[in-house]
Amino acid sequence: MKIELAENKVYFNDGLIKKEIHPFWLRERVDEEEFLDKGTQQRLFDPTTLDSQISINKVSINEKFLEVNFDDGVTSKLKIDKLALEFSNDDTVTKSIPKIKWNSTLENIKNFKYQDNFFDSKEMYDLLTSFYKYGFVIIKNIPTDNNFIVKFANSIGSVRRTNFGEYFDVISKTDPNDLAYTSLELSPHTDNPYRNPVPCIQILHCIESEVTGGLSTLVDGFTVTEDLKKQNPEFYKILSEVKVRFKFIDKDVVLEDWSELIKLNDDKTFKQVRFSPRLDYVPMLDKERLDLYYKARRKLSEMYNSEKYRIEFKLAPKDLMMMDNYRLLHGRTSYETKEGNRFLQGCYIDYDSTEGKLRHLKRKYNL
Ligand SMILES: [Fe+2]
Repeated sequence: MKIELAENKVYFNDGLIKKEIHPFWLRERVDEEEFLDKGTQQRLFDPTTLDSQISINKVSINEKFLEVNFDDGVTSKLKIDKLALEFSNDDTVTKSIPKIKWNSTLENIKNFKYQDNFFDSKEMYDLLTSFYKYGFVIIKNIPTDNNFIVKFANSIGSVRRTNFGEYFDVISKTDPNDLAYTSLELSPHTDNPYRNPVPCIQILHCIESEVTGGLSTLVDGFTVTEDLKKQNPEFYKILSEVKVRFKFIDKDVVLEDWSELIKLNDDKTFKQVRFSPRLDYVPMLDKERLDLYYKARRKLSEMYNSEKYRIEFKLAPKDLMMMDNYRLLHGRTSYETKEGNRFLQGCYIDYDSTEGKLRHLKRKYNL
């Protein structure tokens, strides 16, 4: 990528395309101290109040700087490296970590170990990178006293509180309001599909595990839906088009949200899966369309529940698992309460926490 000048105009040239940079795009980025607060990096002027039909009186390249004199009287030295970072419209941190597809054959994934000064360490950067690659990460040796899970979550970002509280105890209860609080098997699902927005990341911390069953299960919704797209494009299409209703009712609240089971970004890439077959209701569409929808949903469910895609493992006391609730499905095998206790604590955080921490650590360690 190169910046080129011609007749008081600025161009960028990436070898394939040469495009003029709008003079006002440059004017918005003047960063001398009267225009930009150095501490916060926030503007000290409001560009929406300026005339965008600005032109350049004089421009030159001086080593690493673009020196521009605008026709409103402002002169600025803009760092070319800093401008170049903005030529991509993508988030350059999290989007640059490619998702790795995985299924039941996944092995040798790195576990992390909690230690002093963990949250601002290079290890935390590696942990978050691994999280974005695989959609989950396991950290050993997390203290189990005083609801440490809340401290853990708040040291990465902020706990996402819900009507279940700041955190919740996953333990077999009498009169539960959700099957999670029984000892029954839980088939693969995503959490809270009825919330707007759905909590992005679930954290589960094992406090006690005295039972032989109760294994944790994970399925990569990204792998499954990418495979479905190849094998049954019609099924993939309808599941990514039809919005269904998810609902949760408790004595104090009625939560409801509508979404596709496979939600795509504007560019048709993977964004999110929601799957919780006890809670979803498809609207009344034409019979033929519903025929196709039900076949597609059944196929997707078979894939999610197939051994081919599932990994199973046992969380030991002090193990903490962080999983992407937009990408992975999770579940557990049943267990026998007579054998002893199985006690996990859970909470949610959102992507702003992990993304914010990752960008901070990248800046801190010059990565
Ligand atoms: Fe769950």
